[in-house]
Amino acid sequence: MSSIDRALYDRAIAVMPGGNTRSTLFVPPHPPYAVRGNGAEMTDESGHVVIDCNNNYTALIHGHADPEILEITAAVAAEGTAFGLPTRYEVEMAETLRERTDGIEQWRFCNSGTEAVMMLMRAARAHTGRDLIIRFKGSYHGTYDGAVSHSANGVPAAVASSVIEVPQGDIDAVEYALTAHRGQVAAVLIDLMPNRASLEPATGEFVSRLGELARTHNALLAVDEVITFRLEYGGLHTRYGITPDLVALGKAIGGGYPVGAVGGRADVLSSFNPLVGEVTWGGTFSANPVTMAAGMVALRRFTPNVIAELNASGDAVRQRLTDGGVAANGSGSLIRLVTDDPAVTWWKLYRAGVLAGTNGLLALSTPMTDDHLTSITNAVLSVCAPESA
Ligand SMILES: Cc1ncc(COP(=O)(O)O)c(C=O)c1O
Repeated sequence: MSSIDRALYDRAIAVMPGGNTRSTLFVPPHPPYAVRGNGAEMTDESGHVVIDCNNNYTALIHGHADPEILEITAAVAAEGTAFGLPTRYEVEMAETLRERTDGIEQWRFCNSGTEAVMMLMRAARAHTGRDLIIRFKGSYHGTYDGAVSHSANGVPAAVASSVIEVPQGDIDAVEYALTAHRGQVAAVLIDLMPNRASLEPATGEFVSRLGELARTHNALLAVDEVITFRLEYGGLHTRYGITPDLVALGKAIGGGYPVGAVGGRADVLSSFNPLVGEVTWGGTFSANPVTMAAGMVALRRFTPNVIAELNASGDAVRQRLTDGGVAANGSGSLIRLVTDDPAVTWWKLYRAGVLAGTNGLLALSTPMTDDHLTSITNAVLSVCAPESA
């Protein structure tokens, strides 16, 4: 690393464990520090410019400093950045999401995907009167105690025991868990293409069987679309022809600002209605007007055609990588490199001009040109192809 990054890191490590706030973006010895982004590119403290394929872990569908998003956020912020009253922006965002998902009736907002999953779990438990949630090992649903792996440090045993972990894609294990805990499971929580668990889409057969099992056991089907929403106009679940009882969103729907959302059946989310009064859930900055306005601009421009084009670009990059002998999973605009040593791969790619996720995740954005896509492909091939090892 450059002496500039090193100097900042020395200051950072004195005041922050690991030298930054997010475990998810740590690469040893420490990540570079970002300074600015413009469209598909990002510059770090040392002046090194990279094509940003991290896009803040898939959130920045339109890249950095999108002019239209900057304009709306400045205009909305000029009228006040937060109020102790609801605003029209959250109403319009909820209408937008309802229209896009074609059937998910009601929405509530928060500030992150982690918080969305917390709300989702509370809604499921409040609606069903049941305590248990089934989740799949290896899937990441944010950092809430009740959503992380049982092996995570610092999670009370009582919280861990309220979540049953079953192996990824194992329908028999789901059935066994639902049967063994008959009448106690509030929801089955699934990410249909879990990034941490290798970014392979669930099969249609698995998802339809999961839906049947959940219905048979009166458990809710809850889908975490925090990452996968960007793959289809209404989220990846629409590709499977299912309507989840609950869905958690985040990342892309905020137009680059902190966001989370829970959507679901009106009766399931009615627990949050103060007139019914079963669940109180605040959030000083939730449904922030700046975020809502930025998110709506981002989504308005993320039309079915734009999504299809971006997904086609991702499919083409993945195909070229595969043809070049590089194992790459994923679907559409999300690509995950299969690598034995993610930190080494990350640094090699970074030096070759590509910012990836620390686990080898690449997320495309709409400002990427054909030249960017070619550069990304060539950089990955130069770093990961068998003859380069
Ligand atoms: C599938 C999934 N769910 C939830 C989260 C948590 O979102 P956030 O980081 O906004 O808290 C993430 C974050 O990467 C995620 O990938």
